[in-house]
Amino acid sequence: MGCFPCFGDSNKRSNKKINTTHNQHNDQADDDARHSEIVKTTPKETQKKEESKNAVVVQQLETDQSFGGHGEMEEIKAKPFTFDEMEYATENFKPDHFLGEGGFGKVFKGKLRDTSQVVAIKRLDRNGTQGIREFVVEVMTLGLVDHPNLVKLIGFCAEGDQRLLVYEFMPLGSLEDHLHDPSRKSLDWNTRMKIAAGAARGLEYLHDKMNPPVIYRDLKCSNILLGEDYHPKLSDFGLAKVGPTGDNTHVSTRVMGTYGYCAPDYAMTGQLTFKSDIYSFGVVLLEIITGRKAIDNTKSAKEQNLVAWARPLFKDRKKFHQMVDPLLQGHYPVRGLYQALAISAMCVQEEPSMRPLVADVVTALTYLASQIYDPQIHPVQNC
Ligand SMILES: Nc1ncnc2c1ncn2[C@@H]1O[C@H](COP(=O)(O)OP(=O)(O)OP(=O)(O)O)[C@@H](O)[C@H]1O
Ligand SMILES: [Mg+2]
Repeated sequence: MGCFPCFGDSNKRSNKKINTTHNQHNDQADDDARHSEIVKTTPKETQKKEESKNAVVVQQLETDQSFGGHGEMEEIKAKPFTFDEMEYATENFKPDHFLGEGGFGKVFKGKLRDTSQVVAIKRLDRNGTQGIREFVVEVMTLGLVDHPNLVKLIGFCAEGDQRLLVYEFMPLGSLEDHLHDPSRKSLDWNTRMKIAAGAARGLEYLHDKMNPPVIYRDLKCSNILLGEDYHPKLSDFGLAKVGPTGDNTHVSTRVMGTYGYCAPDYAMTGQLTFKSDIYSFGVVLLEIITGRKAIDNTKSAKEQNLVAWARPLFKDRKKFHQMVDPLLQGHYPVRGLYQALAISAMCVQEEPSMRPLVADVVTALTYLASQIYDPQIHPVQNC
């Protein structure tokens, strides 16, 4: 999938954002329209007009029809903040508070002035219309959702050309950090299955419980954040898209997402389906099991793409043990490993219709997570 132009590269990570046009319906036009609307109605010149900046985005959200025309602001729980409050919370975006950086900007830890609540504040880069659209979608989507496996959006700030999102703070950081940062203690098997099952439940809420249903589009390890006791929550709904309605099976869109996680069918055709998310979920599950990155440019050519590396191994049970993260040091259940690999293999099938529904993935992983592995009782595998 190396044929896509990239944007929003982070120095920290090898995962690259994809943004490619396959245009039956090109939503760039929508983005530009939205952007120009915001720019047009948020003049910088006078202080008085500055005060209405948050209201402009709120108005934008009220009029945006892409989420089924939710016009009632009382449904959007996110609170507007001033930029001054954001500066206070982060002590002027002090480097000490820096948490990480993604495709759309830097994230800082902060403490809100009025409630003393500890939060994570994402300051969107000021260049590019993309960020503006993400901003509107993020406020709309996260402002509406309420689920234990989805990160809560507490508020937002839209002052002048500043765009910030205020989230609940997730104290254990991202799954990516835990899987791929060698300075961290390795996750045990039970924790890995708990995270996989929780992330699947978050996705199930978006696909099956939200009305209209939402396709996540950017499921990956850095977007699975961890709370106390490794409770997982999905974050970053900036790329989310309302799913197909009626008899339609897909939504046509620019191809967006992250290298290594993007379903091949979606990458080739631009046709986004719920099964595109299932593919990404399969890649995440494979990372959880193997401890390998979705794309790892430090490995030999054959091993750089995780799914390409795993496909031939999926076919041979004898090779399953070679796939397990060596950091587990043999502490995993054999049956559990087979089952987890089987779920992942089903999710990353080339043919989208062969991939399971999220509800089935949730059922399977909830069962797997309930089968607690105890190294005192169960044999340690010879790796
Ligand atoms: N709510 C949060 N609580 C704690 N840390 C967070 C929170 N949100 C983000 N982070 C940290 O900031 C880092 C960057 O997040 P960000 O979402 O900007 O980038 P990303 O997920 O790596 O890439 P992308 O832009 O594609 O989502 C995360 O990896 C995580 O460590
Ligand atoms: Mg993210």
